[in-house]
Amino acid sequence: MTDPFVIFTPSGQRGRVAPGTTVLAAARALGVDLDSVCGGRGICSRCQVAPAFGAFPKHGLTTTEAALSPRNAVEDRYDRIRGLAPGRRLGCQAEILADAIIDVPPESQVHRQVVRKRAEARAITMDPATRLHYVEVREPDMQEPSGDLQRLERALAEQWGIPDAKGDLRTLQMLQPALRKGDWKVTVAVHRDGPEARILHVWPGYYDGGIYGLAIDVGSTTIAGHLCDLATGEVRASVGLMNPQIRFGEDLMSRVSYAMLNPNGAAEMTKAVREALNTLAGQAAAEAGIERALIFEAVIVGNPVMHHLVLGIDPVELGQAPFALATADALHLWAEEIDLTLHPDARLYFLPCIAGHVGADAAAVALSESPQLSDDLMLVVDVGTNAEIFLGNRARVLACSSPTGPAFEGAQISSGQRAAPGAIERVEIDPVTREPRFRVIGTDAWSDDPDFPPDTAITGICGSGIIEVIAEMRLAGLVDASGLIGSAEATGSPRMVAQGRTHAYRLHGDILVTQGDVRAIQLAKSALYAGARLLMDQFGTDTVDRVVLAGAFGAHISPRHAMVLGMIPDCDLARVTSAGNAAGTGARIALLNVAARREVEALVGSIHKVETAIEPRFQEHFVAANAIPHATAAFPHLPP
Ligand code: FES
Repeated sequence: MTDPFVIFTPSGQRGRVAPGTTVLAAARALGVDLDSVCGGRGICSRCQVAPAFGAFPKHGLTTTEAALSPRNAVEDRYDRIRGLAPGRRLGCQAEILADAIIDVPPESQVHRQVVRKRAEARAITMDPATRLHYVEVREPDMQEPSGDLQRLERALAEQWGIPDAKGDLRTLQMLQPALRKGDWKVTVAVHRDGPEARILHVWPGYYDGGIYGLAIDVGSTTIAGHLCDLATGEVRASVGLMNPQIRFGEDLMSRVSYAMLNPNGAAEMTKAVREALNTLAGQAAAEAGIERALIFEAVIVGNPVMHHLVLGIDPVELGQAPFALATADALHLWAEEIDLTLHPDARLYFLPCIAGHVGADAAAVALSESPQLSDDLMLVVDVGTNAEIFLGNRARVLACSSPTGPAFEGAQISSGQRAAPGAIERVEIDPVTREPRFRVIGTDAWSDDPDFPPDTAITGICGSGIIEVIAEMRLAGLVDASGLIGSAEATGSPRMVAQGRTHAYRLHGDILVTQGDVRAIQLAKSALYAGARLLMDQFGTDTVDRVVLAGAFGAHISPRHAMVLGMIPDCDLARVTSAGNAAGTGARIALLNVAARREVEALVGSIHKVETAIEPRFQEHFVAANAIPHATAAFPHLPP
């Protein structure tokens, strides 16, 4: 009689196995992705499968319930205590007796994919560095005087194929009571990132209380963190707080100056940001309802100055040419080395930096958006005080940073403010009457809607609002291609206000758009466009296939208005998309998929960096980009 033929879905992996082979063993033999924490002892239920019975002409198979052994006592006990869904079997208990088709549901796949909200975004495949393993350890024996740790290490090697897991003093301190309390059965959290595997924690018996990781993006203005379940990838909490370093300087250069001018300046800023990281970890754990000691890992990204300050490295070298990083490499540390209170043995991973101006946050954006995997030529712009720009496809990826300044965030704008309730964020100007309508953060209605709350406090314009209003002014003929605001006589609009030799547009009450505002946005957008154009020169192209706007601010920019202003090169507007906080997403990918860490390290090593400060053509492009949208470049995709 021939051995049973088994097909696993959805992977399609198939082959013959000896009758009586468990589904879990068959899956392992055929390379099928089927989870197990207890190693096939019928405890964890991670191995659940759904066998399919009937005629399957597509596969040339007919299967019956007799294809698998009947439910055994272990499954019955599991069903009684925790419940087994109808049609489900424990893969480690069910034996294959005849031809079978067995579905592995997503929650039983080790490398299950975590859903990302954007349809075109790359999926995150679960492969975390820290995992749980249930092991049975041999009891001590007078005949063989080995230590408990050595027998645990041997059990991990024999039962899980982890030959080199090492425990430290803390492991030793918890090991003996855990082994005895668990009757020589324990669950261990093992961290492997690179050649070394480390035992981080030991629980008596079977532990399924969850282990967690934090993905943190340290921005100059805000710090954001996602607390993720390391088994499922689920985001259990997302928290954000202001970076308390703001009291030392609004932007990066003022913080570097603070470090230069004050003997303890860098140390003060390090202390402030580390306190904030601890607050963030505490808030995330509280929001998720877990103990923060169950956070076993954190992945941290940030621009070079934030990266250095979190690490306690003086950022002074980043403030002057040649902008030398202390290290560009990825870092593996203990959380306690940066005073971060998580699990006492929690590990940290810092993504690599790309260059002195292009940090680990940009590396995370590259990991999230993956231009190196794109057939299309992709332009990725992370818009902030400094814009980080990538251009590339499968052939190669180029990167630069461009000094856009803070105008896009509402700074240096006469009525500018941060994106907060009360800020005008969307603007439309009627091209005939030149009358504006706008929307304010905190309300859903437009200003001319009957349900616009009459008592709305309108406090200023945020970054997206200033881009939209200037683009709308250009479309309505209130600003010419050189950026000059017209007078009331020239435009016929009573909203134009004379200010000495220049003019301003009254948007609402005393909120004006001044000539200085238009100039500030022109400088910022010229820097952004010039950086992108420089990369296009180096790539040898005049066009790009796709544009991705990243960063919290990028999430709010209207692609059409960005193109009307000439912030980005011409592109089909349908192919200009927003990636939201791509740096935070990149940090989450690196947290949940250890292979992605090697991928980003290799990518950063292969990216060709273009230094805008020493490229003579940058200035040329900058000057030409000062016009709205541009002095010479064509924008055929702009609506007429
Ligand atoms: Fe744990 Fe089957 S592998 S219950």
